[in-house]
Amino acid sequence: MEIVHSIKDLQAGLAALRAQGKTVGLVPTMGALHAGHASLVKRSVAENDATVVSIFVNPTQFNDKNDLAKYPRTLEADCRLLEQCGATFAFAPSVEEIYPEPDTRHFSYAPLDTVMEGAFRPGHFNGVCQIVSKLFDMVKPDRAYFGEKDFQQLAIIREMVRQMKFPLEIVGCPIVREADGLALSSRNQRLSADERQTALKISQTLFASVEFAASHTVAETQKFVEDSIAAVPGLRLEYFELVDGNTLQKIADWADTDYAVGCITVFCGEVRLIDNIKYKS
Ligand code: PAJ
Repeated sequence: MEIVHSIKDLQAGLAALRAQGKTVGLVPTMGALHAGHASLVKRSVAENDATVVSIFVNPTQFNDKNDLAKYPRTLEADCRLLEQCGATFAFAPSVEEIYPEPDTRHFSYAPLDTVMEGAFRPGHFNGVCQIVSKLFDMVKPDRAYFGEKDFQQLAIIREMVRQMKFPLEIVGCPIVREADGLALSSRNQRLSADERQTALKISQTLFASVEFAASHTVAETQKFVEDSIAAVPGLRLEYFELVDGNTLQKIADWADTDYAVGCITVFCGEVRLIDNIKYKS
């Protein structure tokens, strides 16, 4: 695996591969890599001749400066993991390399990007679209891999690709969880041992809600999740929404859709955790 820091070096490496007719997969990440990221990388390695993994803590998608400052940075360990997964390039650029001047482009995919994370993190998805569109332009991948962990992000990127006609395939990958159910996240590193136990209640609540939903209405299931999280000291619910998995708009009745997803964001102490679960798909 080659570690490159400049766009020029990355593109030189990619040109050599393209000249041999090789296909390229892209896995955008912000580093602090774990088995969730590794699942995307392994899938790309299996489906493409070469795989580029970008490691870039993108400042334009952080609406909270504290969150940006505290975001874990573990480049050496990340590169070891990527090597094991069979990646071809680790692309770890500086902020100046990606944003030599401020990116003033504005991306708007309402109503996909105005609900849930879009409502609570103003500007977040604009920043995500800025960096992801730049990576698509730089790498020109045949396929790009994103996790369903960030369910709304995946839906917005699919829409951006559709509207901007990027000639590539978006591959959505299932959520990877710890053995006990907690969704893997770079932010889990910031949980204390006690908080880690408390955080487990999030996925447990989601799993229990799927069983509950089988014999209850959407409104009852909403209340079940809200009450379950409220009953756990140390957790604070930001939102839980039962939505149509394609439009991300709230559903009122299970019959409203054949693709129902519950998206949740919870603060566990200071750490903001997101998760989601499918009810119907
Ligand atoms: P990051 O949080 O590093 O996640 C990179 C990719 O890994 C995303 O597609 C995310 O959905 C996926 N991922 C994270 N945890 C996962 C898990 N437990 N199971 C499956 N996939 C998981 O998402 C971002 O970075 C950024 O917004 C980015 C797209 C790189 C743009 O900066």
